[in-house]
Amino acid sequence: MRAAVVTTFGGPEAVEIVEVERPAPGAGQIRIKVAAAALNPVDAGVRSGIFGGAGQRFGLGWDVAGTVDAVGDATEWQVGDEVIALHHGRFKQLGTHAEYVVVDTGAVAKAPASLDPVHAAALPLNALMAAQTLDRLALEPGQSLLVTGAAGAVGGYAIQLAAHRGIQVTAYASEADEALTRSFGATSFVARGTTPAPVDAVLDAAFIGADALAWVRDDGAYVGVIPGAAPSPERGIRTSSVEVTANGSQLTTLARLTDEGVLTARVAETFPLTDTTKAHTRLAEGGVRGRLVLVP
Ligand SMILES: NC(=O)c1ccc[n+]([C@@H]2O[C@H](COP(=O)([O-])OP(=O)(O)OC[C@H]3O[C@@H](n4cnc5c(N)ncnc54)[C@H](OP(=O)(O)O)[C@@H]3O)[C@@H](O)[C@H]2O)c1
Repeated sequence: MRAAVVTTFGGPEAVEIVEVERPAPGAGQIRIKVAAAALNPVDAGVRSGIFGGAGQRFGLGWDVAGTVDAVGDATEWQVGDEVIALHHGRFKQLGTHAEYVVVDTGAVAKAPASLDPVHAAALPLNALMAAQTLDRLALEPGQSLLVTGAAGAVGGYAIQLAAHRGIQVTAYASEADEALTRSFGATSFVARGTTPAPVDAVLDAAFIGADALAWVRDDGAYVGVIPGAAPSPERGIRTSSVEVTANGSQLTTLARLTDEGVLTARVAETFPLTDTTKAHTRLAEGGVRGRLVLVP
């Protein structure tokens, strides 16, 4: 099968499409025939080498939507099931940017009935991240939350989930994204570069760091998206960062919320797997609204 990998770190041209043996599922795993796989900022990070690991070959891709094609042992999944999954890990032999991928059954959920595979592929990583950062903040209905990077994938899902939980959301994004972020359920908007009024918590999807911490009221909360890189606590504010985890049951809930219209999976453009380099180039250009999705 074909798979996108990187062996020498670099720009988009570092991505290679290689022929490899189709992986076989082991115990507690299934193999998915990939229908669509989103490209995320973390894939660009692995490709460029910011996580290290020089001299090895890494498979790219975390998000997948597709059809169960083989099962390793007793599992609730059957060949032919339409599923989505998060294939977690920066240092994988093979990722979801491939024709087939093997994932742990605990990372899998039934695909949302309301979405085609291209849109379903835009759900796992960033909807899980949004849910897990909100869980970390543990806000009550009526409390205030400012989301930075509000027009992005994490930011958009975070606004929708927070609004659904009864939290008052302020979106922090480029002026041109006001209507978009309000459509997600933000009740206030602050244009990038403007100082917001104090809030109970900040979900810092744009990784602004200490400047965004300054917008949190005393004894509030801050959560960041770069593992291990939260600003130091001050004024009684709880600060932390989240590393997303693969969680099939949480992903099942997020798929249900998608079918109920709470979450919107956004896709900007699709690329054939053979054009993965072009997709990386487009991502690097910036300003993409919605995910770029690879189709084998
Ligand atoms: N820790 C984890 O496990 C985990 C999981 C998922 C994602 N992440 C990280 O979360 C971050 C967001 O991911 P994503 O997929 O949502 O990215 P994305 O879709 O590219 O969105 C990022 C958004 O932030 C905006 N932005 C950048 N700088 C900003 C600033 N100073 N103020 C306001 N907005 C700003 C961007 O706008 P422009 O396009 O106009 O620049 C874009 O709309 C990434 O760093 C990603 O790696 C971490």
